[in-house]
Amino acid sequence: MINGVDVVYGLAWGDEGKGKVSAAMAPKYDWVCRWNGGPNAGHTVWVNGKKHKTHIIPSGIFAGKRCLIGPGCVINTDKFFEEIRYLRSEGFDTSLVKISPAAHIITEEHIAYDKKNLGHLGTTGQGIAPCYADKMLRRGRRAAEYFISDWLWDGEMDGHILCEGAQSVWLDIDHGDYPYVTSSSTMPYGACSIGFSPRKLNRLIGVAKAYDTKSGTDPLFPETLWEDPQIDALIREGGEYGTTTGRKRLANWLNLDKLISAIKLSGCSELIINKCDVLSRVGVFKLIHNGEIVEFKDLGGFKMYLAKELSYGNIPELHDIRFSHNPETI
Ligand code: IMP
Ligand code: MG
Repeated sequence: MINGVDVVYGLAWGDEGKGKVSAAMAPKYDWVCRWNGGPNAGHTVWVNGKKHKTHIIPSGIFAGKRCLIGPGCVINTDKFFEEIRYLRSEGFDTSLVKISPAAHIITEEHIAYDKKNLGHLGTTGQGIAPCYADKMLRRGRRAAEYFISDWLWDGEMDGHILCEGAQSVWLDIDHGDYPYVTSSSTMPYGACSIGFSPRKLNRLIGVAKAYDTKSGTDPLFPETLWEDPQIDALIREGGEYGTTTGRKRLANWLNLDKLISAIKLSGCSELIINKCDVLSRVGVFKLIHNGEIVEFKDLGGFKMYLAKELSYGNIPELHDIRFSHNPETI
């Protein structure tokens, strides 16, 4: 029986540090599951002082937990096995990984189409949109056809479940900044596509960052912002280069108006704001609220302002806020 499901998901445009949060939480769970996306995602996780990067395999693998790639995910089989070989060589037990037979397979044609036709949207070029398009056209190829039964999930799941989001609220196909979005449901309710009742959902842990970044294109993040030396310092100090593509990310101060919308829209019950140390290293503490830049003299002022604006009185469903530094701690 499933005891309960907690969800870790992103409240911005990805790259908030979801992988770090779910890897830290994983030891308390029986299963760690991905419900959306594929090799477009990039999770950076530190284990015993060593940095690991994953794209499709849930962060539960680092804690020796059963890991599921759910029916809403898309898989590049070469990349999947590359990741499995890497994790095995690092001593992790990859027999814990299971794939839903209904997950879709990314083909060479999907990748070629993406690279040729979707570059103007700033996609990761991994074939994500064409693969989901074929799924919707009911002509996709599924994992059941490609993987031997050892890899395939039998549909059984029990105990405490952690679901790990990929991409984030503003990349969601329905609610994001369309068309600068991804092709799946990044909202926490998307986790139910794995195959359990929404009534099993308990904690909805939203992850944000002390400043905003976007991988790829988006009119909300004009490239001219790169000319601002303080924004450039954010990128440098924050190491804001894509895990999957290596691209320099677009960046801006934390947009509190967007964060509040994302929290309300997704029903976030707990909020983690990552990478606060980056602001300290840059030595500038700013955010955007009601369309205006608000500046603070130190990190304490920045945190106090956020704690007040996001308080229970203003957002009743949100009952916990934590500020965190990178990379190891939450
Ligand atoms: P696609 O998912 O490759 O189609 O890319 C669509 C948009 O989502 C682009 O702006 C990507 O940069 C962005 N994106 C996709 N996956 C991630 C991710 O894991 N982190 C951050 N941005 C992502
Ligand atoms: Mg990422």
